[in-house]
Amino acid sequence: MPQIPEKIHELTVGQLSARSGAAVSALHFYESKGLISSRRTSGNQRRYSRDALRRVAFVRAAQRVGIPLATIRDALAELPEERTPTREDWARLSETWRAELDERIDQLSRLRDHLTDCIGCGCLSLKTCVLSNPDDVIGERIAGSRLMPERRRPATPDTTRP
Ligand code: FES
Repeated sequence: MPQIPEKIHELTVGQLSARSGAAVSALHFYESKGLISSRRTSGNQRRYSRDALRRVAFVRAAQRVGIPLATIRDALAELPEERTPTREDWARLSETWRAELDERIDQLSRLRDHLTDCIGCGCLSLKTCVLSNPDDVIGERIAGSRLMPERRRPATPDTTRP
């Protein structure tokens, strides 16, 4: 990755991309989601502060471990005055995400274990296929479409009979 001289305080999107390893399109996407911000020059070009490098690193690290962008954005928004996350911020946030990741890993492990039942099957039955309906808690208690509102017709007299 190319070094950015210390005297440069603002980066073009190309410089930010080259230094962070994120594609320009990804940076535009992050910006559209409020994860990073830029100012516009008089020629309408984006300029990012050097802090954006750390924010992009934070976002990419969180994404690598499967944290949704909305969660990352919420975490960044919680920082005082929307400052750049510090090492301590990352340590604290990654600790809170750990339980969420453990839960997701457990769920994926369970799905992987059930995959062998599905290989070569293809039924995708909501009743019997664990992959198709992995958290069928209600299905364990009751059968059928009980959540659908029953259509009750008003009792009308049968006029066809004597
Ligand atoms: S596809 Fe048939 S049991 Fe999963």
